[in-house]
Amino acid sequence: MPISARIKTSIQNSSWIRRMFEEGAELKARLGPDQVYDFTLGNPDLEPPPRFQEALVQAAQDSSPGLHCYMPNAGFLSTRQALAGRLSRLHDLEFKAQDLVLTCGASGGLNVILKALLDPGDEVVILAPYFPEYLFYVDNHGGVPRVVETDEHFLPDLDRLTAALSPRTRAVIINSPNNPTGQIYAAATLKELGRFLVHHAGRHGRPVYLVADEPYRHLVYDGAEVPSVFAAYANTLLATSFSKDLSIPGERLGYVAVSPRATGRGELEGALVLANRILGFVNAPALMQRVVAALTEVSLDITPYLRRRDLFCNVLAAAGYDFLRPQGAFYLFPQAPGGDDLSFVDRLKEEDILAVPGRGFGRAGYFRLAFCVSEKVIEAAAPGFARARQKALG
Ligand SMILES: Cc1ncc(COP(=O)(O)O)c(C=O)c1O
Repeated sequence: MPISARIKTSIQNSSWIRRMFEEGAELKARLGPDQVYDFTLGNPDLEPPPRFQEALVQAAQDSSPGLHCYMPNAGFLSTRQALAGRLSRLHDLEFKAQDLVLTCGASGGLNVILKALLDPGDEVVILAPYFPEYLFYVDNHGGVPRVVETDEHFLPDLDRLTAALSPRTRAVIINSPNNPTGQIYAAATLKELGRFLVHHAGRHGRPVYLVADEPYRHLVYDGAEVPSVFAAYANTLLATSFSKDLSIPGERLGYVAVSPRATGRGELEGALVLANRILGFVNAPALMQRVVAALTEVSLDITPYLRRRDLFCNVLAAAGYDFLRPQGAFYLFPQAPGGDDLSFVDRLKEEDILAVPGRGFGRAGYFRLAFCVSEKVIEAAAPGFARARQKALG
């Protein structure tokens, strides 16, 4: 076998994603890309804000020496200072440049965090439905995922969560606003979770870190607020990026921030910097670091996402689907009519609609729709959604 048994298993475990991709590509080749309503990919389709283009041109024209060299593995000091200022204002807590490590997106950040925290066999609690890559990231660093179901509103079920904690628990990953559900965790829930983790860590004599994956923090609707995880729990690490709020996922820029109140803050920060280096990232992309330093107060105009969310909710409600209105991010996670997500996704495909079965996110019986597509596509798919549901319910 030319590849490792481990990666072979990973490929098999992600085969449903491949299947959707391959079947979608086949359908598009047969019918033409405009005839297929593809809601599978969470790939932001809005252009970055105009200020991004300006900052990029300005950064490209700067011919000061040394701008394209290797740099400290944590990133440019000036960028970390600018972002530390932004974080301090946002969370009402004083962050310093050394609390931040610039990373290749939130994905890079999560891998850096897990590399820094985990010994082989350490457990990481993950809440289902989840971003599927978490399972791979935990495995990358010798950890063991402990998947815990959320409640019927996709919010943390603290009884189940605490029952899943063990002496080997090292971290709990949370993602709010959530992919795939669009739900936001309340401040009271985070506080309660924090209290449980303090209690648990006290009993077992080692800290449990709360890892907040927040790339959708600035994609929220109806004036919703995303409470500060740092306010809820001292041993918190943030992984985030500019992929969604500047709409630049291809540029691979994000960062990790350590709570100024975290146990072992200095040692932890040193470990994150080394992890960034030895995972082969070395440092986050230099040009982008300089660009985002000028954009700390800039975010995408999310009006198009809001309009799509409202339209999509109307389309699904009119067709009789059961779903929770997303408060943030750009996904809907409705129940699969008839109960079986795989066969329902097949029914949608008969209507030239591509969606992702919920079991890929750890919750069968649901399916995910990403609204990174125009309103026209959502409108054109409406009759297909209605027919697929009627057929599924026979
Ligand atoms: C929940 C969640 N975390 C992390 C990521 C990775 O984002 P990035 O592009 O910043 O690596 C995504 C991307 O879709 C995501 O949905």
